[in-house]
Amino acid sequence: MAELATEPIVYSFTDHRVYREESPLVIAEGEGIRIRDTAGKEYIDALSGLWHANLGFSDAELIEAATSAYRRLPAFPCALGRGSAEAQALAHELLAAAEGRFSSVYFAASGSEAVESVLKFLWLASNADGTPDRKLVVTRDSGFHGTTLGAASLAGIPNQHAGFDLPLPFTVRVPRAHYYRDHLDGESRAEYVDRIVRTTRSRIEEAGPENVAAMIAEPVMAAGGVLVPPEEYWPAMDRLLTDLGIPLVADEVVCGFGRLGPLFGHRRFGLRPAAVTVAKGITAGYAPLGAVLLGPDLTRSVAGAAESYGVLGHGSTFGGHPVAAAVARAHLRALAERGIEARVAALEASLRTCLEGLLELPVVGEVRCVGGLAAVELMADGASRRPFDPERRIGRRVARKARELGLIVRDLGDVLALCPPLITDTGDVAEIVSRLRDAITATLKEET
Ligand SMILES: Cc1ncc(COP(=O)(O)O)c(C=O)c1O
Repeated sequence: MAELATEPIVYSFTDHRVYREESPLVIAEGEGIRIRDTAGKEYIDALSGLWHANLGFSDAELIEAATSAYRRLPAFPCALGRGSAEAQALAHELLAAAEGRFSSVYFAASGSEAVESVLKFLWLASNADGTPDRKLVVTRDSGFHGTTLGAASLAGIPNQHAGFDLPLPFTVRVPRAHYYRDHLDGESRAEYVDRIVRTTRSRIEEAGPENVAAMIAEPVMAAGGVLVPPEEYWPAMDRLLTDLGIPLVADEVVCGFGRLGPLFGHRRFGLRPAAVTVAKGITAGYAPLGAVLLGPDLTRSVAGAAESYGVLGHGSTFGGHPVAAAVARAHLRALAERGIEARVAALEASLRTCLEGLLELPVVGEVRCVGGLAAVELMADGASRRPFDPERRIGRRVARKARELGLIVRDLGDVLALCPPLITDTGDVAEIVSRLRDAITATLKEET
């Protein structure tokens, strides 16, 4: 039996054993890409909070949008045939920004809730369309889609299931796209993609494509290790899904709103999703909001089901909160007016240049970078892809050392993930990578 916790907050995604040695980091304030803890120590937050504070921590326009929205209408739902003017306007603006691909927007309060909602809509649609066997959802190893029962079932990360009696039995698991770790010796990227797409096809065929409602996928996996797919991967998957008649749900909770450059992450890879889930960066993290953008087919099926059952038996109080909607609208304006796509291209270039410098360290196996997402994968020997003994918890120790050096990164096993605010400039990128290099070398020195 564990001792009674002394921490008043049950921190998520945290090994609670750390509290025996250290206290949680408690942040008092932030400015730009920097945050300050209650003792006054400053950090560069190279994770943007939890992949969400995309404009840093002091954006005057977003703060003003929230403040004035609070004065106009501080609370209102999107339910019972009523909604706020802000939510209504945001829905129109999102659909316009998506250039006609989608027909309606469902508002939630978080990414998990958006994913859970799209699962329910897929099931509702399969019943409404007279194909009630179409309930399976294809999902990938290392994928992450949130923590509610359905969303967590989609995860391909073992700690999301252990002890929770998950996954629920509606998923078809297929390979992730992680060339560096998973390719066979001598296998080219194209051959590797060919192999994993063939495995994907055979897993779906075993389950029966006629039983599959959709495949859900992050355009670039974030929590699974910032896995940037080889360029051949998405075109091959697009052909496969088209061939099998399976719609794609793009989970853009991290990849949306400029994180990969374009407003929608699927555009970076030319994907044609039937639905998109967003949250986090939709408000640059300044207010909780999630959304599902539904294509015409799903829109029709959901509306038809709501008519035939007499009600859409799904919803939430806080989905589409008027203040969150106002912040999201201000964010959409900011993204357009400040040329974020071009800024992200510059951020990607400087992240890539600086991180590639780390490859001279023998323990750096691979660096990955796309848009404002990046990762450094540590290995006992990078060249031969020999991993560290997990017991050594190298990634966690490097992240802890980085924190001592005033840098926040996320350890995902021995992968160090970077997701700096999209306003991070070249000088700050150099500072982030320099602190990370110092953290890696200091941690390994402690070992010897
Ligand atoms: C791809 C993806 N989907 C869904 C979620 C869940 O979002 P939330 O934490 O807002 O519930 C996350 C969270 O990190 C995510 O990365």
